Amino acid sequence: MKINKVSKLNGTIVVPADKSITHRAIMLSALADGKSVINNYLKSDDCLMTLNAFKQMGVQIEQKENSLIIEGAGINGLKNPVKEIYAGNSGTTTRLLSGVLAGQKFSSTISGDASLSKRPMKRVIEPLSLMGVDIVAKENNFLPMTITPGENLKAINYISPVASAQVKSCILFAGLYADGITTVAEPIKSRDHSERMFKTFGADITVNDLSVSVKKCDKLYSQEVTVPCDISSAAFFIVAGLIVPDTNIKILNVNINKTRDGILTVLKNMGANIVLDNVKDVSGEPVADIEITTSKLNSTSFGKETVPSLIDEIPIIVLAATQAEGKTVISGAKELKVKESNRIHAVASQLNKMGADIEETDDGFIVNGPTKLKGATVESFDDHRIAMMLSVAGLIAEGETEIVNSDCVKISFANFYEVLEKICK
Ligand code: S3P
Repeated sequence: MKINKVSKLNGTIVVPADKSITHRAIMLSALADGKSVINNYLKSDDCLMTLNAFKQMGVQIEQKENSLIIEGAGINGLKNPVKEIYAGNSGTTTRLLSGVLAGQKFSSTISGDASLSKRPMKRVIEPLSLMGVDIVAKENNFLPMTITPGENLKAINYISPVASAQVKSCILFAGLYADGITTVAEPIKSRDHSERMFKTFGADITVNDLSVSVKKCDKLYSQEVTVPCDISSAAFFIVAGLIVPDTNIKILNVNINKTRDGILTVLKNMGANIVLDNVKDVSGEPVADIEITTSKLNSTSFGKETVPSLIDEIPIIVLAATQAEGKTVISGAKELKVKESNRIHAVASQLNKMGADIEETDDGFIVNGPTKLKGATVESFDDHRIAMMLSVAGLIAEGETEIVNSDCVKISFANFYEVLEKICK
């Protein structure tokens, strides 16, 4: 994709549905009794991996343009997938599904693409093994991994070393099948969509600050769920709106769940003019329209306490920091090294090619701003969020920016370039 500098952005847009919530809605609907309807689901490669996995296990799913109709198989009704389940690029599919597969009467194997096959799975293998599941993975850590449940799953009380919603959710899904009460505690609160949706579907789940407990479950109840739009996708337009001159844009129906809204707090601390309007509840999640106006930004610093609430937005926050006055220090973000790419290296190396002043650290970045960016040929590392961040950088860079391997935006935001084109004036 080639991007040229723009003079302003203007308009009202809708970004795709939330990826995390769509994965969970598909999974819980598949395990519920009866017919569930998921409105405004995310039709992206990652969520289609979850959808296909459940189809492969016998769940009837009708895909309409704007909704999914899922005939739940019941909590114990999944069929042996026979062939291995391919999770593509999707860490969420792999880690959450491994919790579901841990509770089945059959053995199954998950595989993935080159990037997913390099991402750590020990973080789910360890707790699931404690629950009595036999897992064989490449080098005990990587896909493909074969999950063979034991006779009876044991409930555990697990203290997770990482603040990861994928790890937490994996254990909670397995906990639905384990005798007794399964508890998982995390060091810092990660996104809580599973907790909210488990409750909606009738699971017996209790949240106590940083720990979450779930009881064995005989039955989940089908639901109609409307998925709000994804703040992680909105993030690219929020930052674009702040750093492109003469801009005013509105993004409708964005999920502003407290465990996900760190980007709004950080950008407001930097001086961003961001206004939330029309706040309401949609299927148990808070939603708002977000209005953004070009702003003069100042540097900021944040660390590990803040990171889980904006983990996927750090690449685009770093771009904002390149345009802010002063030194921005981001720490406690080592997890970025094991995302769809090593995002610390990807962000720093590619933005520096465009003239930014970013130092990679072991757990984050030091960004000196403001710097004028200039067009360059940059690489997405086949990572959707890197491709979109670099595209936004291209909007303010002198000359032309070419993003190599930009096609990966389809992992979470298939029509990203159409939406962008709509507001480029
Ligand atoms: C997700 C959790 C986060 C996030 C990912 C989606 C989820 O991953 O980066 O894009 O839906 O649970 P971790 O749990 O690995 O931090």
